[in-house]
Amino acid sequence: MKPTRANFLADALAGLASHPRTLPCKYLYDARGSELFEAICASDDYYVTRADLALHETHIGEFANLIGPQAHVVEFGSGAGIKTRKLLAGLDRPRAYTPIEISAAALAEASRELETSFPDIEIRPLRADYTGDIASEHLALDPPAARRVVYFPGSTIGNFERAEAKRFLQRMGRIADANGGILIGVDLLKPVEQLLRAYDDSEGITARFNLNLLERLAGELDARLEPEAFRHEARYDADHRRIEMHLVAQRPTRIELGGQCFDFQAGESIHTENSHKYSVSDFRELAASAGLQSSRVWKDPAGLFSMHWLEPMAA
Ligand code: AVI
Repeated sequence: MKPTRANFLADALAGLASHPRTLPCKYLYDARGSELFEAICASDDYYVTRADLALHETHIGEFANLIGPQAHVVEFGSGAGIKTRKLLAGLDRPRAYTPIEISAAALAEASRELETSFPDIEIRPLRADYTGDIASEHLALDPPAARRVVYFPGSTIGNFERAEAKRFLQRMGRIADANGGILIGVDLLKPVEQLLRAYDDSEGITARFNLNLLERLAGELDARLEPEAFRHEARYDADHRRIEMHLVAQRPTRIELGGQCFDFQAGESIHTENSHKYSVSDFRELAASAGLQSSRVWKDPAGLFSMHWLEPMAA
């Protein structure tokens, strides 16, 4: 379930050997990385979290009307956040809530808190990797809820390549039953300077978040490397409409890992994350390719961030 040291080592070796070099973004989130991510969310330059929250505050009543009474809400993520609380508090007598999360500790803590705050909602935590298939028996209720709704706020869909995002949306569509839906957050295209500021913030938190990957290679996988030889860089790739995070070698340097040597020239980078940005119509098209119709879209008052309500298209 939780990636093991052996998985981490195998992924790191494969990524460092590839050209361009990569490290999977899931390794950004150890305890230190998760703390730094929280700090990013609270920073002035990272607009995403504030915009997402503002959107929830303005439109929660409309979300509740669409979702309807007695729904079973399935969240991809632990449900620890303030948005989940807003949603559950705003819905009409929700029948059950299932957070799906790979970290047992995060899942247990969030579930305990939600059980206390929402004693009338059946909280059914599910420990699993939500990027994989979720067996339907884990989500079945007896008797079934009025409707099953997948809730995926934030903009994590942007961290998937478009082809992966399509497969992921298809899987969500299978979880929402024929009369269910998906409420999903999608970050919007915007001026490049604003994006670069958000992913290379003036306090240097995102830089520490990215560089933490090198600390993990050294601390957990006994890599020999020179962390100070690398610097964080956020780049906008206009062709793919995405922000990329890189760790760029400032001088020739070497990473020794698992008995292998990886030599870097100055300027060579390790690509560590993609964050795709969508227009409303782009995302509608992507959803349609996954068999989902985007039937409502909301934006925050500043037009930075969007939520889509997706419904399975009739076969
Ligand atoms: C988790 N995810 C939606 C964040 C994003 O905006 O792509 C991760 C992140 N990376 C750098 N800053 C935030």
